[in-house]
Amino acid sequence: MTSLPELLPASIQFQNSESVQIRKWRPALGAAVSGLQYTGGPLEPKTLDALRQALFDHGLLTFAPGILSAENFTEFLDNFGDVTLYGGPKTPAATQNGQANIVDSTSKRNARNYIWHIDQAFRPNPPALTALFGQNVPSFGGDTLFSNAALAYELLDPHFAAYIETLTAVHYWDATGHVIDRFDDVEEASRQRAAHPPIETSLVRRHPITGRKQIFVNESYTAYIKGVSRTTSQSLLTILFESIKSPEVEARYQWESGALVIWDNRTLQHRGIGDFAQAQRVFLRACVA
Ligand code: SIN
Repeated sequence: MTSLPELLPASIQFQNSESVQIRKWRPALGAAVSGLQYTGGPLEPKTLDALRQALFDHGLLTFAPGILSAENFTEFLDNFGDVTLYGGPKTPAATQNGQANIVDSTSKRNARNYIWHIDQAFRPNPPALTALFGQNVPSFGGDTLFSNAALAYELLDPHFAAYIETLTAVHYWDATGHVIDRFDDVEEASRQRAAHPPIETSLVRRHPITGRKQIFVNESYTAYIKGVSRTTSQSLLTILFESIKSPEVEARYQWESGALVIWDNRTLQHRGIGDFAQAQRVFLRACVA
């Protein structure tokens, strides 16, 4: 039995001259930021340093409603790096903010966001950060689940962990039918598949900033494990996907309209919960390269 890593302090505290506070959010991941009022432009360096540190130490930052708006959401993210617009026909640029995509449950009914994933993990270098702003969220249901893939790795049996470090995973945008969901046009879907061929990564990856090792497979985009039999590949992936879903490494975020969540997209996996019936659920989403 492995013990919980020391990398998860029970609490963190930060307070700056403007009364911004950062506290540990959940045991597995996350820190909650309060007292911040963002009016635009660069953040105070001390505050930005503390936010960055908490983001990489804890994987995710939560902000209650009221700190910023749909209009200045991506200006806030500019503090953390280059904001990239990444969307498709069903997640167009938002009218209030052309730097962000709209993720609207009414135009994305069979959404792939209800499958565990890392955003764009079919590319060799997925975005460093993802952020969601709750534009119009259901009053009941529609939470987002997050999982800490570094902690999931650290909780594996050490012999098993050493074995999977030797393996290579193959990831593909269309591994679970993503492309045809996104592009109704068959020819466009073919062009997209050709533009994004399968990629290979080591199954255990080291985070470029924190140095922490993590499981790097996800249910949405990982096709198979290279060089082992199909049975072995499927069985190993089942174990690893189950590890990602373990409550010990997860946290559940309950949305309010106006709330903001930013996370380390290279370490955390996420999925929405489609339990809000006919209610509408609308986010603005942006990634930081
Ligand atoms: C997403 O994966 O783009 C959004 C996550 C969610 O639906 O909660």
